[in-house]
Amino acid sequence: MTIIRSQLIGTGYKLPAKVLTNDDLSKMVETNDEWISTRTGIKSRHIAAEGEQTSDLSYDAALMAIKNAGIENQEIDFVIVATVTGDNTFPATAAKLAKKLGLKPGTPAMDVNAACSGFVYASQIADNMIRLGQVKTALVIGAETLSKITDWTDRNTCVLFGDGAGAVILRAAECAGSKDDTGVLATKIYADGSHFDKLFSDGGVSFNQKAGFIHMDGKEVFKIAIPSLVQGVEESLKIAGVSINDVNWYIPHQANLRIIDSVAKKLEIDMDKVIVTVDHHGNTSAASIPLALAESVAAGKIKKGDLVAISAMGAGFTWGGMVIRI
Ligand code: UT7
Repeated sequence: MTIIRSQLIGTGYKLPAKVLTNDDLSKMVETNDEWISTRTGIKSRHIAAEGEQTSDLSYDAALMAIKNAGIENQEIDFVIVATVTGDNTFPATAAKLAKKLGLKPGTPAMDVNAACSGFVYASQIADNMIRLGQVKTALVIGAETLSKITDWTDRNTCVLFGDGAGAVILRAAECAGSKDDTGVLATKIYADGSHFDKLFSDGGVSFNQKAGFIHMDGKEVFKIAIPSLVQGVEESLKIAGVSINDVNWYIPHQANLRIIDSVAKKLEIDMDKVIVTVDHHGNTSAASIPLALAESVAAGKIKKGDLVAISAMGAGFTWGGMVIRI
């Protein structure tokens, strides 16, 4: 019996032109390259220009994904943007993007706020709609301009984050229904709001009518990030019916190289199979995974037929994972 699965037919990404290095940061706050490199693995990050918005980064990433997929903009019939730094409080950045891309009138468009797990959440929503037959071709984006909610006087947080966008096009196709199919084989998402105050913005429309700045209890997030990222992979591998030994590439959320190393050890996957971009992207929240995926595809590292495991963890807390055969 054949089933419908979401195929990954295109990927794209956009990084703002401005690069901020650790040495640049050491001129802004009491920090240095040695501390940032050894504690986080980050060397540099991209920062949006003044006036460069999340929708602008999303637009460029989407154009690249559409081009790589070899489709017309009008073939897209659902757009979802995962972000915590949308252009406006409302409407959705996705709606603005749909207009800018000239999608068919009436194409549904929505944002999803699941912080660093946003891309996994958005992918699950799009994948479910595709498998239900409600949507044929979905544009799924993770995009952030975290620099706009970064307190540039707080060394605890300002060295960690960056801006960027990653986009994928998912399209329905009939498959055999086996673990050897191409496309999205599994998604799994979780949340636990009891960790709300460990990673948050101290602003909000209903709370104090501000956008606020990022605050994080780094040590606490670090501790919980590791088992959460492991669970995201293990549970989605189980659903997909494959094992970690079948995986060609693991893409973890890019927050800290020490977290990534530790998760890889627990999963018993060689670091040669782990995609690392945190060194030159920093933590770009919802953009981190699609950016890493699109950059690795563009570099010829991730290839057709590869089995890719993904997991993310972030504010909320939210976490989850997915498995996709390219
Ligand atoms: O995206 C969602 C997921 N996010 C994460 O997974 C992030 C998880 N957390 C982390 O990655 C790490 O906890 C951090 C990188 C944020 C911090 O590393 P840490 O090893 O936990 O350091 P710490 O916060 O315990 O700080 C150690 C010391 C402190 O000094 P004292 O109190 O020991 O004298 C800090 O004041 O390092 C100091 N410090 C810095 N020093 C130089 C904190 N930030 C800096 C800095 N430069 N930028």
